[in-house]
Amino acid sequence: MVDISEFVFDCKPEVSDIKLLADIVFGQDYLTESRIEEYLSNPNYIITTLCHKDRFIGVSFLLNTTLAALDERVVELITEKFHWKKEQPIILHHQTFLAEAYQGLGLGKALVLHSEKKAAKENLPQVSVVWQYTGNKLHTLLKQLGYKEAGIIPKYWHKDSLDKKYSCSICGSPCNCDALILVKPQQR
Ligand SMILES: CC(C)(COP(=O)(O)OP(=O)(O)OC[C@H]1O[C@@H](n2cnc3c(N)ncnc32)[C@H](O)[C@@H]1OP(=O)(O)O)[C@@H](O)C(=O)NCCC(=O)NCCS
Repeated sequence: MVDISEFVFDCKPEVSDIKLLADIVFGQDYLTESRIEEYLSNPNYIITTLCHKDRFIGVSFLLNTTLAALDERVVELITEKFHWKKEQPIILHHQTFLAEAYQGLGLGKALVLHSEKKAAKENLPQVSVVWQYTGNKLHTLLKQLGYKEAGIIPKYWHKDSLDKKYSCSICGSPCNCDALILVKPQQR
């Protein structure tokens, strides 16, 4: 474990620093600079950044949206399984990632807890689409926070990776990874 007081939440990284880290953890060009700029300028994004000694090391992007705005396969799965309406306002736990050198020290948990605390004020059900592989720490973390498994969508990013020409850090290009859909019902 680390001394969390050495780390600064909600620091102001450059877009290029976020892109560089995303290229390493997710794969080349999965997140483009224009997409990151879009996130940063969209007031519906709940963003928590983390820095150590002025170095950007991680970020969590949550989005205040509706179920209908998500990928249609996710919408279908959730409406069928949980009977939510498509217009249901939700928080999408969009992306959380940390520089490799800082992983496994409890910082991902701190980052997720920090961002989930901000999102809790909205009191909305939450959804996340995560990589389906044994040992995915984000999956473990979200389960600890009350997210339930809704189902698996095979080769979730396949078409998107071909259309947007990005490569996956796990399986290359096109991406053939499956997605696990996680859902956290409203708390009160
Ligand atoms: C996912 C990520 C943000 C987690 O952050 P982290 O700092 O590495 O994780 P932490 O040290 O905070 O550990 C989080 C939890 O994972 C679990 N965990 C730790 N090591 C694990 C392992 N080897 N296998 C499975 N679970 C593990 C633990 O339960 C831990 O919670 P606990 O300490 O309360 O038991 C980080 O690893 C990351 O950025 N990975 C690359 C990007 C990524 O995969 N993002 C998710 C895309 S779906």
